[in-house]
Amino acid sequence: MNILVACEYSGIVRQAFAVLGHNAWSCDLLPTETPGQHYQGDVRDMLKDKWDLIIAHPPCTFLSNSGVTWLYNKDKSKNLPRWESMQEAAEFFKIFLSVDCPMVAIENPIQHKHARAIIGKEYSQIIQPFYFGHMETKATCLWLKGLPKLHKTNDVETEMRLLPKNKQQRLHYLPPSPERWKERSRTFQGIANAMAAQWSRHLTTACTRQGAAVAPSSNNLGFAPCG
Ligand SMILES: C[S@@+](CC[C@H](N)C(=O)[O-])C[C@H]1O[C@@H](n2cnc3c(N)ncnc32)[C@H](O)[C@@H]1O
Repeated sequence: MNILVACEYSGIVRQAFAVLGHNAWSCDLLPTETPGQHYQGDVRDMLKDKWDLIIAHPPCTFLSNSGVTWLYNKDKSKNLPRWESMQEAAEFFKIFLSVDCPMVAIENPIQHKHARAIIGKEYSQIIQPFYFGHMETKATCLWLKGLPKLHKTNDVETEMRLLPKNKQQRLHYLPPSPERWKERSRTFQGIANAMAAQWSRHLTTACTRQGAAVAPSSNNLGFAPCG
């Protein structure tokens, strides 16, 4: 199957699908950290092609609830450049909500009410890294189209709750550094593995049900869409 992992520099989700035999591509403005099929550039260039599944990790800096206070200055007036960036980020996010692809997952943290008002669609589920074997918390929302909700693969919450708070919330306590945002946004391997295992099964069943034959490559990137 042809899978696009949009806004992914780490290559973690792409590789989780690639090892299962899929034609998986990642795309980011940045180079990839993991050698493999990666397009470095604007993901909108790739949305013209046919994909069976798109998994998108759009930037969350201006949408996330944890950053909502920055929308206002100290004197309570609106921080107008921040509102503009928020509008732009929300519009970018919405591209994935309306993209022409039968199966789409969009990932983002819990958003503030202003972003939610522009985006206009509720998330489908909230997942945590500790559902997938990682001893830490980070509430992550998924907006799903044509895909089942992810189910837990290795719930380690009980053990994790025994750890000190700064370990449970490792990402929250990371010291400031130029690479902090990268560390905080990199997809957890356990979540990537769950996506690949559970959604590949779903994809294969869906494509078999449609009776779709794998078509010869019909675009300049050499993808072979199933439908
Ligand atoms: C929140 S991070 C997601 C990181 C991802 N979870 C990973 O493991 O690589 C958002 C990413 O979107 C990328 N990005 C922003 N605008 C983009 C665009 N127009 N096209 C492609 N990537 C873009 C950024 O460079 C950044 O790496």
